Amino acid sequence: MRNLLSIDDVSAEEIQTIFATAADMHDVQSREVKKLPALRGRTVVNLFFEDSTRTRSSFEIAGKWLSADVINISAKGSSTSKGESLRDTVQTVCAMGVDGLVMRHSASGAAHQVAGWVDAVVVNAGDGMHEHPTQALLDAYTLQRHLGSLEGRHVVIVGDLTHSRVFRSNVLCLSKLGARVTVVAPPTLMPSGIASWSEAAGFETSYDLDEVLPTADAVMMLRVQRERMAGGYFPSPREYTVGYGLTRDRLALLKPDVPICHPGPMNRGLEIAADAADAAQSVVLEQVSSGLAVRMAVLYHLLAGESEEGGA
Ligand code: NCD
Repeated sequence: MRNLLSIDDVSAEEIQTIFATAADMHDVQSREVKKLPALRGRTVVNLFFEDSTRTRSSFEIAGKWLSADVINISAKGSSTSKGESLRDTVQTVCAMGVDGLVMRHSASGAAHQVAGWVDAVVVNAGDGMHEHPTQALLDAYTLQRHLGSLEGRHVVIVGDLTHSRVFRSNVLCLSKLGARVTVVAPPTLMPSGIASWSEAAGFETSYDLDEVLPTADAVMMLRVQRERMAGGYFPSPREYTVGYGLTRDRLALLKPDVPICHPGPMNRGLEIAADAADAAQSVVLEQVSSGLAVRMAVLYHLLAGESEEGGA
């Protein structure tokens, strides 16, 4: 793996290698001195053209705990707001001797395109409605810790599938690890062309959440991405919640101890009720701490491997 642009860039075996490294990295989080020397002398730039709380801080802390020099650049305050092209911006940043570029952009395919313009290792931290591979890796890592193995386990992904890069990366990742995946959304938020994709990739689709939940081994709620919606995808927030929210009543449909995931940020009361978000079986905050370990592992394999192991 040279870059991490899509889950397609990693095999099931490589994913398990990343998870094994992440488990070691997890131990670092509980130490008093949270520092490993692995990326000493390396420079990582987080280039974020879209808002982010957890992904950007997670990559920043991950790089710092591995002793890399980490610089954050956000679109607001960068030269893109003066009219500079994406290509000029990334080539300028990389001309400073940057080893790794972690980027988020609103255009699907942006990270892929940038990878062709620069020598630095590129990690896609979300490109439009396309992919968010480290989110899928951290979700699968979290679920594997709870379920032992994902082989044959039924993972139900619910919500605004049309606008979700988390869904796209997760379907690829979970299927690669042998999980049975069902995706649930109202017809207006079910991506067009999903029938042929689900057939080719071997996952199921449903419009009926109540029917699917009782057989779930894990449930992943996705945010209703109102900032990407131009028109009315559902009549009212209330109707969305009635049909597709993980409400208190729906919690009772789940088998006991089924992990509840949400990548954040959550719209409490819309796609997930407080009773579900704060339930004992909710792994939302665990996803965040696991995410840090997984991102440390990803940076380690992409950036430390080159010198220490002769190629990752
Ligand atoms: C997701 C994203 O940005 O794609 N959030 C995240 O990275 N934790 C999902 C979302 O914004 O709903």
